[in-house]
Amino acid sequence: MTEKFTERFVQRLDQLDSRKVGEYLLGLAREKGLLENIFNSMQEGLLVVDSSKTIAMVNHAAGRLLDLSPNSVGSLFDQSIHDPGLRDIIEQGFEVPGQVLVREFIVVHPQPRWVRMSRTSLRDADGKFRGIMLVLNDITRQRKSEQETNLVERLDFLGHLTAGVAHEIGNPLSSLSIQVQLIERQVNSMEDSPFRDKLRKRISIIKEELLRLDQIVAQFLKTLRPEPLILKKEDLVTVVEEVLELVEEELKEKGISLNREFPSEGIMGRMDSGLMKQAIINLIKNAVQAMPGGGEISIRLEKEDAYLKFSITDQGTGIPREKINRLFEPLFTTKETGSGLGLLVVYKALRQHGGYVEVTSQPGEGTTFTIWLPQRPERIKLLPAGGGGDR
Ligand SMILES: Nc1ncnc2c1ncn2[C@@H]1O[C@H](COP(=O)(O)OP(=O)(O)O)[C@@H](O)[C@H]1O
Ligand SMILES: [Mg+2]
Repeated sequence: MTEKFTERFVQRLDQLDSRKVGEYLLGLAREKGLLENIFNSMQEGLLVVDSSKTIAMVNHAAGRLLDLSPNSVGSLFDQSIHDPGLRDIIEQGFEVPGQVLVREFIVVHPQPRWVRMSRTSLRDADGKFRGIMLVLNDITRQRKSEQETNLVERLDFLGHLTAGVAHEIGNPLSSLSIQVQLIERQVNSMEDSPFRDKLRKRISIIKEELLRLDQIVAQFLKTLRPEPLILKKEDLVTVVEEVLELVEEELKEKGISLNREFPSEGIMGRMDSGLMKQAIINLIKNAVQAMPGGGEISIRLEKEDAYLKFSITDQGTGIPREKINRLFEPLFTTKETGSGLGLLVVYKALRQHGGYVEVTSQPGEGTTFTIWLPQRPERIKLLPAGGGGDR
């Protein structure tokens, strides 16, 4: 039923009987219901604000993304929309009504999401400005997988490089070690003298350093060498409890209390529990090391869509903004005796499972690491690279 038809209908209203009017109205209602169904089943969020700055329409996807209930229809947009960035974008739409805007930005309320948004103005048949329409796409997962692809490439490259270098270093290293042992034997057979003692001391330093070199190479190889996943059905709650048993004493000694937010019924998924335990231990260790004065660590487990979610929050030093992008880099450490491999192990474990890691931190207040583990990793892995397992 077009606008023209409606116009003619209104002009002839006095000549029509009530049955005709009723049929027409029913038809309109049905059409409106159909349109609403279509809008609500769209993946894109749709938000219409009319020329009096009142919300005229919100579909389900936009409601979810922006935490808007259907009741917000009819209210002023700046009272219902909590996200300040989005409010500005809508306001600008009224200031420059002709402008079309496409932008990627972060919606901070109700939770941080990356959103691709396009804003257009709505006009009626006479060209009169009627309001603006926003089309919103949640691209958080896509963004994450883009960032990951970069790191994945670097990691693969590094894996190859280390394997090569480690191999090259291995041979001279073992011949050095044999030579040192031979020298040691000769020195040992020398007569007692201050000179001999000096030599023995030097030799022991060389041996220690060689050992250290050997360990670094071995650790690097262990971290980066791809090992096959052994997936088994596990309860994440049990896996985490087993890890906590190992660290509980240490936490107590360091004046750190543990707050568990675990679902009582457990959460099952398929995972390589050895690898996941290693990752979780590394996250706990980092949290502990960030809180030299003690405090509280909260661990939260839940199920979200097709993912098992683990998050750990500490009350530690936090991570300055400029460092946060470097955390997962191999050898990045701010600790005197750190290896800079802990988070790489976490990252690699998650990547092998097809999951991902997120960090949020408030310097001076604390840090939260969150990991998402797909409930069925084998399904995620079937997706093409970069697909990121959308929804
Ligand atoms: N919970 C945390 N709080 C503050 N900083 C952290 C935390 N976790 C990791 N970091 C930072 O990330 C760096 C890298 O961590 P990691 O890869 O585990 O290596 P390492 O612990 O050996 O330094 C740490 O040196 C630290 O600066
Ligand atoms: Mg660490």
